[in-house]
Amino acid sequence: MPTITQGDLFTATLEVLDHPPLGVPALDAGSREAVVRLAGAKSLVRILDGGEGHDLDLALPGGYRNREGKLRLTAHRLTKDVFAIEAGERRIALLRLRDRAVGLPDFDPEGNHHPALRPTRPLRLRRGRTLGRASLWETLRLGVEVALPIIAQGAVLRRPLGVRLAALTRADQRANRLLARLRDRHDGGPLLVRIPLRGWAVIPLSEADVRRTLHGAEFTPANKEKQGALGHFQLDALLVTRDPELRAQRRAFNEEVLRPDMIADAVRAKVADEVATLPTRGVITWPEFHATQRRIARRVVLGDAARDDEQLTRLLDRLRGDANWSYFAARRTDVRVAFQRRLEAHLRRAEQGSLARVLAQTRADPAVHPEGQAPHWLFAYDAAGVAAWRALALLSAREEPRDADRLRAAMRESLRRWPTTPAILRDTTAPTTWRGVTVPAGSMVAVVTSFMDEVPFSDGPARCPGEGLVMLTATHVLDEILREREVRMVGRPPLLDHFRLRFAVRPRER
Ligand code: HEM
Repeated sequence: MPTITQGDLFTATLEVLDHPPLGVPALDAGSREAVVRLAGAKSLVRILDGGEGHDLDLALPGGYRNREGKLRLTAHRLTKDVFAIEAGERRIALLRLRDRAVGLPDFDPEGNHHPALRPTRPLRLRRGRTLGRASLWETLRLGVEVALPIIAQGAVLRRPLGVRLAALTRADQRANRLLARLRDRHDGGPLLVRIPLRGWAVIPLSEADVRRTLHGAEFTPANKEKQGALGHFQLDALLVTRDPELRAQRRAFNEEVLRPDMIADAVRAKVADEVATLPTRGVITWPEFHATQRRIARRVVLGDAARDDEQLTRLLDRLRGDANWSYFAARRTDVRVAFQRRLEAHLRRAEQGSLARVLAQTRADPAVHPEGQAPHWLFAYDAAGVAAWRALALLSAREEPRDADRLRAAMRESLRRWPTTPAILRDTTAPTTWRGVTVPAGSMVAVVTSFMDEVPFSDGPARCPGEGLVMLTATHVLDEILREREVRMVGRPPLLDHFRLRFAVRPRER
């Protein structure tokens, strides 16, 4: 064992001794690998995979908050290379230094930190607060810079004025800058935020924490705010189903019906029909394109006879407008019943080449309530239109071959840069521990999609089952528009503001 100098990095083994559970995952489990930096009062131990797939940093001496309160951890040297880790009077683990951690960058004595052991304070209480917990000031900034723009734009039905303000103030960039700063300040996150009258909200800021949130069994997609919002128009939808068994049935049903191959040819024909109604010379505006997109959605979901049922979409819009206010808005039962009646009349026709036909032909337990799944499909098709409209802006910037791969890539880029689901919400169904801090069941977890690349369709057991259908429909829309037209964006509006995007078109020369 070489001589230890302050600040040196070592690999080590953490040998956990027999002790009652402490609520610290790494110290309650068996032996583990660790990286250690000894620096007197600021020694750090990074336990590799300290539980739940995360590394865990311990500052020694330091305080660690577990379920019962604060736990004091100290380290005492027993021999040259063995240290005892103690919780109060109790010895809980032995830390055996093995070798110098070669290959890792050097310790920076100036800043008293090491790039491999980022300056961590996560588990130490500092002036009464834990790293990872948003301060009051940070909470206020998160409210103003992240939550407010999402609420103002309308999470379920976009409001033109809210979107315009968000685009003018570059709200998405501001939010991302703030989150990046908080991620650095809080050592990678996640961030725990206390929301008055709601309790804890967890904001994952690393890919590992997002993965855990979207895949973990202890998180339900049927989060309270989502139930409050979607309950305005789709009480029985998969996304707001809490019971795990019923959720599994509804999930299987949705996956079966939404398989794109079931109606692929019909979708192509319907899209071609509708895009042909758009001008080939002049300017195409959002209201024109939106109306076309909505006709496509009604025809694909409900059949051609629903093509002109704008009243159905208007009723749904009113309910979606209420849904923007989640459980704060009163439920309009009369509007919902009127919407449902109209919708069910269309579904009853089970028209060939529509999702309504596939729905009617797919066996399901009555508890699944197959018709109750359709409002989501109709509503979610709007997002496909918004994403396709922005993808057209990306495509119009360059004259390149318009093969299917490129159209798909433009859709993906559009969704990555301007995700149509601003936040993916989960509620915890059991107490969950985030780097040593346990939040109770019922806490909210919010993945901010614009900050996390690669989750526009979510992931895990609630990943969007409509993705295939969305990509199929949208690439046909883009293909049909571009096949007949040369397209140029008018002006340079911020692309986030899809309402103001306009395209000058003229017939394509062959
Ligand atoms: C651009 C278009 C779309 C995007 C970006 C999108 C994205 C998403 C996301 C992020 C989720 C997860 C939401 C959450 O966990 O809170 C989701 C769920 C879902 N989406 Fe989509 N979606 C789109 C269009 C569609 C369409 C057109 C359909 C149906 C025709 C659809 C059907 C569903 C269903 C049924 C769920 C619930 C899944 C579950 O709870 O297991 N989506 N979608």
